[in-house]
Formats: sequence, C-alpha cells, structure tokens
Amino acid sequence: MKVASFFSKIAENVTGLNITPKLVDEMSRWTEEVEAELHRQIGSPIKLVEDVSALTLDAGGKRLRPALVRLSAAATGQPYDAQRVIKLGAAMEMIHMATLIHDDVIDDAATRRGKPTAFSQYGNTASILGGDVLLAKAMKILAEDGDLPIIRTVSQAVVELAEGEVRELELRGELAISREDHLQVLRMKTASFIECCCRIGAMIATPNEQVQNSLGAYGHHLGMAFQIVDDLLDFRGDTKKTGKPLATDFREGQATLPLLYLIPELNAEESAFVGKKFGNGSTDAEIDRIIGWMNMRGSLGQADQDAREHGSLANLSLETLPDSPEKNLLLSVTKFVLARQS
Ligand code: IPE
Ligand code: IPE
Ligand code: MG
Ligand code: MG
Repeated sequence: MKVASFFSKIAENVTGLNITPKLVDEMSRWTEEVEAELHRQIGSPIKLVEDVSALTLDAGGKRLRPALVRLSAAATGQPYDAQRVIKLGAAMEMIHMATLIHDDVIDDAATRRGKPTAFSQYGNTASILGGDVLLAKAMKILAEDGDLPIIRTVSQAVVELAEGEVRELELRGELAISREDHLQVLRMKTASFIECCCRIGAMIATPNEQVQNSLGAYGHHLGMAFQIVDDLLDFRGDTKKTGKPLATDFREGQATLPLLYLIPELNAEESAFVGKKFGNGSTDAEIDRIIGWMNMRGSLGQADQDAREHGSLANLSLETLPDSPEKNLLLSVTKFVLARQS
C-alpha cells in the first residue's frame, strides 16, 4: 500500500532529520496499521456512505494527526498501549476527514488532496451526511476505548472546531476584522484539535498533567503555525503541490492574516479595488495583482513571522520532556509545518 503519509512528506521536506533508522521503521509500520484500521472503519453497508469516505481517504493526505498522537505518547518517555494508539489515532484522522468533507461544502471547494472533493462528486447532502457518519464512527471508537477524560478532551475539541467554523462563517465577507478575532478562529477551528491529538497521545501514556500540558501546549502552537501557513499557501502555494485551488479564502470573502496585514498598507484606490473584489469573484490576474502587493508590502512576510513565532513556542514547550527519538521528530515536525508546500 503506497501511503502519502505525513512521514514520507516530512522526510521529503526536512533535511538533516535527526531520527534513527529504528524510528523510521517503527513509524512506517505504525502508519500502515493506522491505514489498515482506517480502511476497516470506513466500510459501510450503505454504498454512498462508503464512497464519500473512500474518496477522501484514498486521496491521500499527510495523516499528521494520528502521527502526532503516536509521537506524543512516545515522547512522554512512559510505556503505552500501542493498540490504543492505533485505534485512537485512526479516530482522530476520521474526525479530521469529516471536518474536511464538511469544510469543502462550506467553502465551495472543488479539489482537496489533489482530487475532486466529496462535495463536487456527490453534492452537499451526501457530503454532510457522510461526514456525520465518520464523526459518529470516531465517537464509537472512543466509547469502546472507554477512557472518560480522553472522551471529554476530544468532545471539547470537536465542539471548539465546529464552533470555530461557525464563527469563521459569521466573519465571512468582513474585511475589517480584528487580528484577535481572527486568531480566535484559527485557535478554535484548527489549533484546538491539533492540541487535542497531542494531549490524548500523552494521556494514553501518562497521568502526569504537567507532561500532558507540555504536549498540549506544543500542539496548540503547532496548530496555530499550521493554519497560518495554510492561509499563506492559499495565496502563494503551488496548487499542484497543495492539491487545493488558489485564493479560495479571498474569493470566498474570508480575510486571513496576509490580507489583514495588507489593508493598512494600501492607498485609497488600491483599497477600493480589494474591497470590491473581496468575496465577489476575481480573475486570476486580479488575484495575482493582490498577491504582488502582499509580497511588496511585506504582508506575507509578517504572517510568516507569526507562524515562526508559534513554531518557536511549540518547540519551547517540549523542553521539559526527556530526550528521545520521538521528541526529536516532534521538533522536526515544527520545521516541516513551517516549510511545508502541501
Ligand atoms: C487541512 O489539514 C485543514 C487545515 C486545518 C488547514 P491538512 O493540511 O492536515 O490536510 P491533509 O490531511 O494533509 O489533507
Ligand atoms: C480549516 O480551514 C479547515 C478545518 C478546520 C476543517 P480552511 O478552510 O482554511 O482549510 P482548507 O484550506 O480548506 O484545508
Ligand atoms: Mg474553511
Ligand atoms: Mg476550506
């Protein structure tokens, strides 16, 4: 099975990875087991349900979230139950897939992971319902695992994620949003769930709350950096690599950091142009013009700087953990997130 997993992506993107051949081998085998679990889980007697999930699963994706569960469990330095990590890692990827399927309906997105989205193939209703099935199946895995604090942690994160998507929708079409309001959306829709993956990895391995909090803080900052980079890629990514269309956020009227930083740098005429085009249909040439301003006025650089700051804070959060190959890999994950092209 050829898996376009986080692990092969990180190896492609980060040079000088300080990881042992043993860890490479372990992570590859573990990724395959998660993959097999995911394929088992998406099976359904209802063909359309299976088709919606299979389209998203087979399109690839980095599988970052299950990788974070496993690396966080191991980075505690405590022994842990590998089978639980596989099941819960798969559950986290299923929740993630459900949110992507729903997000593509919300964002009217035609492609994801380089392939047509469930939304474009099967329409709104089948995508919403197919996503709901994935969420329900993930909750079933959590219930079968039976760890109440973990169930509480994941439920809370999923509530925040969904509320974050709704808050983003409330802000849609508004250009003059505050940086604070915008960062709250990034925290809720993305960072809270990435934090959750790291936190539950730690919880599987240790009851030590300090260790859980360190890995949680790592996940929070990694998640903030991850979404800021995602929003940068929306403007300057190579669509062949990201697998997603360019400038979806701007075209949909969703202001992100590069745009928020650009607005004060525009003269009256430029500002009127951006205001008119925002969320109102733009040609590729018009998008290019706006990206050109973002480059020249330093708005992309400013957002980059924010991502880098969160990256430093993520790695700082790991300082108190014992040294281990998995901790080293988490430090490299930060590098990967900051440099990622997909
Ligand atoms: C996309 O997540 C959604 C965001 C939070 C930006 P990923 O970039 O991890 O998506 P896949 O799983 O690799 O496709
Ligand atoms: C993140 O938002 C999506 C989720 C939290 C599911 P985006 O809308 O920015 O993500 P992409 O760019 O579509 O992957
Ligand atoms: Mg969205
Ligand atoms: Mg989207």
